[in-house]
Amino acid sequence: MKKILIATQKPFAAAAVKSMTSIAEGKGYEVKLLEKYAEQSEFVAAAADADAIIIRSDIADKDVLANAKNLKVIVRAGAGYDNIDLEACTANGVCAMNTPGQNSNAVAELVFGMLVYAVRNFFNGKSGSELMGKKLGILAFGNVGRNVARVAKGFGMEVYAYDAFCPKEAIEAAGVKAVESQDALFETCDIVSLHIPATAETKNSINYALVNKMKKGGIVVNTARKEVINEAELIKLMEEREDLKYITDIMPDANEEFAAKFAGRYFSTPKKMGAQTAEANNNAGIAAVNQIIDFFENGNEKFRVNK
Ligand code: 3PG
Repeated sequence: MKKILIATQKPFAAAAVKSMTSIAEGKGYEVKLLEKYAEQSEFVAAAADADAIIIRSDIADKDVLANAKNLKVIVRAGAGYDNIDLEACTANGVCAMNTPGQNSNAVAELVFGMLVYAVRNFFNGKSGSELMGKKLGILAFGNVGRNVARVAKGFGMEVYAYDAFCPKEAIEAAGVKAVESQDALFETCDIVSLHIPATAETKNSINYALVNKMKKGGIVVNTARKEVINEAELIKLMEEREDLKYITDIMPDANEEFAAKFAGRYFSTPKKMGAQTAEANNNAGIAAVNQIIDFFENGNEKFRVNK
């Protein structure tokens, strides 16, 4: 009997785990659960007899892959797969997949939860501002970016986007104004919402020069990855420009410094919350189980992300 290990430091909702288990068991798979583990070594050890692994932001590094001798497929139940060592997967004959789109509405909704909180001065009782009529810039027009655009229109915002890989026509077909560059997006918009993955090109790309292009009162909201921010440069800029706000769902390494220096202009969730809804857990978790079953039974590698 093949074993599926669900390794989640930040667990799925219990109902999602129940559904995932029942689908897998119904197809003759055994499910092993490793939740809230404290040490990476626990994940490495638990991977030893797994034929398939489902993770979230858990780190699937060389050690995990080297110890997982039976492993054939690993699925990141979510969008970003920067937490998986893709080269090690390929070297070990493991297919790595993600479940694109399954948690994107949850992340998009959190963007607006955080934005309302920010423009209303973190609910401190002082008069704030509204989102209606403001220019929102969406950096990267993937599944989350598209959902952000949809919700933003409901708020009556003017929506702009830039995506290095998505043609202008596709952005405009979604009723969003496409701008020519990342620089133009920051220059044009009152608020910029980040939806870029963490890659060699994007790491540290949100830097002093770029954010400094924003108009007075600019807000950057990050539900993507902390690595895309050049933290030292953003701190320097926010020291110089007391009008800027930074709101994030991914706690920066320099969280304490941001919090101490920028009271009233900085907020981070204590733990990444974007995809943490019952619906997103269910969608992404069940998609992951189904993809594993389809992989073993039909060789389906549609969502493969490694070579
Ligand atoms: C993703 O890449 O899907 C999101 O960042 C959500 O990550 P999480 O599953 O760790 O909450």
